[in-house]
Amino acid sequence: MPQTLSVIKADIGGWVGHSAMHPEVLDLGRERLAQAVQSGLLIDGQAHACGDDMFLVMSHDRGEDNTEVHQYAWDTFTAGTEIAKKLKLYGAGQDLLADAFSGNIRGMGPGSAEVELVERQSEPVIVFMGDKTSSGSFNLPFYKMFADPFNTAGLVIADALHQGFAFEVHDLKNHKKIMFNAPEEIYDLLVFIGSPAHYAIKRVVARSTGEVAAVSSTDKLSLIAGRYVGKDDPTAIVRCQNSFPAVGEVIEPFTTPYIVEGFMRGSHYGPWMPTSVADAHPARFDGPPRVVALGFQLSGGKLVGPRDMFDDPSYNNARQKANDISDFLRLHGPFEPHRLPLDEMEYTTMPAVAAKMANRWSEI
Ligand code: F6R
Ligand code: MG
Ligand code: MG
Repeated sequence: MPQTLSVIKADIGGWVGHSAMHPEVLDLGRERLAQAVQSGLLIDGQAHACGDDMFLVMSHDRGEDNTEVHQYAWDTFTAGTEIAKKLKLYGAGQDLLADAFSGNIRGMGPGSAEVELVERQSEPVIVFMGDKTSSGSFNLPFYKMFADPFNTAGLVIADALHQGFAFEVHDLKNHKKIMFNAPEEIYDLLVFIGSPAHYAIKRVVARSTGEVAAVSSTDKLSLIAGRYVGKDDPTAIVRCQNSFPAVGEVIEPFTTPYIVEGFMRGSHYGPWMPTSVADAHPARFDGPPRVVALGFQLSGGKLVGPRDMFDDPSYNNARQKANDISDFLRLHGPFEPHRLPLDEMEYTTMPAVAAKMANRWSEI
């Protein structure tokens, strides 16, 4: 019978500022998921934090876009918001953009990634949790995992991967989607996904079997709200081994802390630093952006795990590089390319300053 793995996440209040989640709020998430397992809504569920975001990892047999599961996640975030308000945490309920739940959590603020799967004899999955960055940030690592033979040896030397993968890309501004086949269409694919603020990889499918290999949250808070309310802080689920890349190939892209949008005020470029759960509390200049990898084996839908995959000395160099890159970019202060280009910034004083200065400009 097919199962569904759903990760639904939201920032419902930070402790302190935007740096971390308060343990009382995380405990509430854990208790609510335990109750949902007891009542039979879920097969299994775990709540985790990366920075100031709560990620609900839920396994069930109700399919993607299930109203009860989405409603339960929404109600968990609203209950957590009450605690955040009581503790006067920063930005309590900031990602809950709708007044009341209406059928599906998409478009209401929280991010979601869901995959329906028939559990294989052994089903290793990695759940990635991001903070202080945008949806679209998984474009580069997904490309490396599923289309770059310099990252994924299996694309060249394993029969099951040799047929390649198909990428479902979403145009976030115009609400359209398109499929690309790798390897033969990688140049066309890269024209789009090289611009992650506009185009994001939603799904990756194994061409040999048609099975979904990976999915990411592409919800864009600023496009939903029409203004800056916080960064998207995306999540992704990636299935591993056999006809998918091996665990080591899936986490290999994060040995380089690629530059992503986010950091302070969601308006800067900074390195995406892979850390353990314990180190996922971005503070310096509200960053640098973090990514955590939780490894699970699914067993009849039970989440056997997590293993904290970046809690590994082999990621020390990536963390060191991320700190060096941060130091260097910070030296640019308010100048691009540390600061985002004008039309990408989440905060700006430009309209007000431009209006104030309007009559001081003269022809050159
Ligand atoms: C990043 C983020 C923070 C805030 C910053 C200012 O996603 O949310 O960097 O933008 O701390 O917050 P306010 O404007 O609420 O003081
Ligand atoms: Mg926040
Ligand atoms: Mg956050």
